[in-house]
Amino acid sequence: MKFRAYFNRLFPIFLIMVLVACNKKVPEPENNNKMYQFSDNFLWGAATSSYQIEGGIVNDWSTSGIDAGKASDHFNNYRKDFQIAGELNTNSYRFSIEWARIEPEKGNFSDEAVNFYKNILKELRKNNLEPMLTLHHFTNPVWVKEQGGWENEKTIQDFLEYVDFIVNEFKDDVDIWITINEPNVLAFKSFDAGEWPPFKKDRKTALKVMRNLLIAHAKSYHLIHKIDSAAKVGFAQHIALLYPNWSINPVDQLMAYFQNKVFNQSYWQSIISGELNISIPGLEIKEPFNQKLKDTMDFIGVNYYTRWMVTSSGKQITKTGVPVTDLDWEIYPQGILETLRMADKYAKKLDIPIYITENGLDDRKDTKRAEYIVSHLKKVWEAQQEGINVKAYMYWSLIDNFEWAEGFEPEFGLMNKERKLRESAKIYAEIAKDNAINKKLANKYLD
Ligand code: GCO
Repeated sequence: MKFRAYFNRLFPIFLIMVLVACNKKVPEPENNNKMYQFSDNFLWGAATSSYQIEGGIVNDWSTSGIDAGKASDHFNNYRKDFQIAGELNTNSYRFSIEWARIEPEKGNFSDEAVNFYKNILKELRKNNLEPMLTLHHFTNPVWVKEQGGWENEKTIQDFLEYVDFIVNEFKDDVDIWITINEPNVLAFKSFDAGEWPPFKKDRKTALKVMRNLLIAHAKSYHLIHKIDSAAKVGFAQHIALLYPNWSINPVDQLMAYFQNKVFNQSYWQSIISGELNISIPGLEIKEPFNQKLKDTMDFIGVNYYTRWMVTSSGKQITKTGVPVTDLDWEIYPQGILETLRMADKYAKKLDIPIYITENGLDDRKDTKRAEYIVSHLKKVWEAQQEGINVKAYMYWSLIDNFEWAEGFEPEFGLMNKERKLRESAKIYAEIAKDNAINKKLANKYLD
């Protein structure tokens, strides 16, 4: 009888223990206000790019019919912009230098442009914002366009002369250098999809451009280290999570596999192996082992936004019936964790950190941004719990800006074009201040 009584009392407790053990959920932290605490010295910031925010730039885009005009007029408002950025409790800021502003003609470097960026770096220091400086963010000077841009291998050397000039000018103010932003996106948007200047649709050329951009990155890596051995150098890789649209369809699976292999993985694999290998069935660019390519990353920069479903024709579409942004991009927070796991495979081989160099959404009404930020950052916290060394989060973007071929319609900014911080920016500022997602935000935005 006694045993039965004990059994009846203890069995439910035993059952709960077994169920909890099987659940293997990420261990929820002890219940305190800073529910999800990020690692010490985590870099919190916002990201922008020169052509999208500054205004008044003449380059290969503005002379190809896609003119940003005065953009967000950052050129005339940068002090105010960084004073507002200072209200975000962030400790970092990612921006790019416009090659066309610095070197409008080959070999002629503009003092006015150098002073503009020196003033920006001074304002960043004043607002305690660690600069993360991008040397190339999609755009080129007109003279580079006229010589064939990145299709022309000669552009690599011209880019190195620009990098040499900039790094010597700014090495005392900058520790973190991003050589090239999203070489994969630039190559495919401009030379395969034909949506960006020079509007070409030739996959073979797209692969050749990917090759030239990768070589330019690797040579810049060594050049920057020659000028400043303590510099941290990497590039920003756009990761588009690619899933077969019909998971049981082998053609969809193959398409997703090959697009992931070329678009997401080929740069990291080439850098880790030292052998340049960018290939899809019927098309490949392979180069033998090159010590100058191997291991040319001090950090892995990842830009993550969304997941795409890949059809058997290779088209990338938005999954049906899911929450989406104004641009109809799926809101998929789990994707940033999957992206970090993908990057972690390579980061661990080089024992280097991962920086999220872009994440954000276009949300004109600001009704989704707060939940987007909190839910994606919770996944970043989970990545840290798994031992992934992610050390920075740059929200895209500080201010509404020129969204390339989409123009000014999409609004990604923490502040709008009138330079008013959105309500969601205050949520981001609260997380940056705490270096954690507190209980109130977790209860409000996490299911
Ligand atoms: C990119 C660029 C940014 C975009 C942002 C939103 O990733 O394409 O770095 O310039 O504006 O990603 O699309």
